Amino acid sequence: MRNVTRDNITDVFMGYLGQDTDPRLREVVGSLVKHLHAFAKEVKLTHAEWNEGIRFLERAGEISDAERHEFVLLSDVLGLSSLVDMLHNRPEGTSSSVLGPFHISGAPPLAVGGDMRRDYDAPVVLVEGVIQDPLGNPIPGATLDIWQTAPNGLYSSQDPDQDTYSFHGLQTVGADGRYAFTTVKPVDYTVPSDGPVGDILRACGRHPWRPSHLHFIAEAKGFRPLVTEVFPEDDPYLDEDTVFGVREDLVMRYEEMPAGSFPADGFELSGKVTNDYLRVRFDLTLVPET
Ligand code: BEZ
Ligand code: FE
Repeated sequence: MRNVTRDNITDVFMGYLGQDTDPRLREVVGSLVKHLHAFAKEVKLTHAEWNEGIRFLERAGEISDAERHEFVLLSDVLGLSSLVDMLHNRPEGTSSSVLGPFHISGAPPLAVGGDMRRDYDAPVVLVEGVIQDPLGNPIPGATLDIWQTAPNGLYSSQDPDQDTYSFHGLQTVGADGRYAFTTVKPVDYTVPSDGPVGDILRACGRHPWRPSHLHFIAEAKGFRPLVTEVFPEDDPYLDEDTVFGVREDLVMRYEEMPAGSFPADGFELSGKVTNDYLRVRFDLTLVPET
């Protein structure tokens, strides 16, 4: 096409796609370009703004490496990661939520009732629930990958003072589908804000905070894996998570338990917790693979 105009450029682009282009690729790329062109027209994008956008992407590339995923972070703070999650969420199961960059594979086994708190001097939190199907039947043999921040607000991969798998564990449930462990309260923390995504947050008058949460990946044969997180109802950032990860059904409550009421058996810490502690009950519902 030699007579490209601002009115026909989107159609011209579509016409340039080869006949044998994969239909799904045609649909996705075509729609992306259509919206990109419409966006530029709507805001009358200037050269300077276009240039700034390109420079932003270059900086995001420069800061990214095997551990730093600035483009994923960009997707997170724009709400795209959460939107993609929600597009594929199944209402009969527990909602999924963002994976985040701090999951590490190969977490050590954590027996049912095991302790992730180790030597940290912070109040004990007992977390338990059932991994079940949408009818409420337990799923024997399901696994639960668990990770969270230490009391200093850092994940182990961010903190040279923590062991590689500190506050990471992999639990396999028994016939009753029950998972249980003790830990400390995860704390609020900020997403990395020392790069170009942080600049965008600041320019838009946004903060980088996430409400505290426990991360879970629940998996079982014949079921869709569930990547999710649970958040306490009293967290100050619950309604302003900078990565839009909170869902109504992912909100949990810390129940204050009096001294002397810690279960006498079934936990690694049974017989060792004499003070008050906190208890959380949260069931996870997996949806069968179709
Ligand atoms: C996290 O929950 O660990 C996380 C999620 C998205 C961006 C940064 C951190
Ligand atoms: Fe997290």
